[in-house]
Amino acid sequence: MRLILLGPPGAGKGTQAERLSKELRIPHISTGDMFREAVASGSPLGLQAKGFMDAGQLVPDDVTVGIVRERLSRSDCRKGFLLDGFPRTVPQAEALEEILADLSESLDAVISIEVPEDVIVRRLSQRRVCGDCGTIYHLETKPPAPNGKCNVCGGDIFQRADDSEETVRKRLEVYRLQTEPLIRYYEKKGLLRRVSGDSDIETVFEETFRVLERV
Ligand code: AP5
Repeated sequence: MRLILLGPPGAGKGTQAERLSKELRIPHISTGDMFREAVASGSPLGLQAKGFMDAGQLVPDDVTVGIVRERLSRSDCRKGFLLDGFPRTVPQAEALEEILADLSESLDAVISIEVPEDVIVRRLSQRRVCGDCGTIYHLETKPPAPNGKCNVCGGDIFQRADDSEETVRKRLEVYRLQTEPLIRYYEKKGLLRRVSGDSDIETVFEETFRVLERV
């Protein structure tokens, strides 16, 4: 399957993508994770992306489309993929269509995870992430081990630099202006499937899976 997970910051895209990519046996491609890895390694891409990310702004389309084009051309994507956090603008969506046309492929569905804004701000202030394996935690609903280490790999847990309340509000504004129009864009193409993200992680997963069974 060739899928996109769409939704505001904190909607639970990464959380659901971890599980869906295992169940569906397709790679989870998160542009946010790719940029964070580039920042951590100090690569030229990371240096370019860091300022935008810290300010809650989007990395420019040409840079983002370039890394996604390269990633989708790899052989593990021939059986499908799950895009998380891409596309995020109409030009990115148009570029994705071109990339897929070049590969003689097309999308199967776009899942829009919908969560009210007040829930998002609360969720993101409690989010923690493993620096080694990327497992996503929440201090209340999905806590890491009592010693503060990752349950999966024992790695150190950290809070993302862009999860301060001020930056989260900026990211939400950027989402409304630049990404929300994609809901209509994919609705018109008949690809959009809506899922409520405002219930527990397991319920959201089951609803998403049910939706995908009908695609
Ligand atoms: P990115 O990493 O993609 O961030 P985002 O889209 O803002 O989304 P998040 O990762 O914040 O949230 P999520 O929906 O994955 O939620 P999660 O599952 O973690 O991008 C970061 C930055 O990179 C961008 O701001 C931009 O600068 C740049 N960038 C990335 N892609 C780009 C692009 N295409 N173009 C340009 N720039 C780009 O869950 C959040 C928390 O809630 C966790 O603690 C989790 O445990 C908890 N949780 C999840 N689901 C539930 C639930 N159902 N109930 C209770 N708690 C839950």
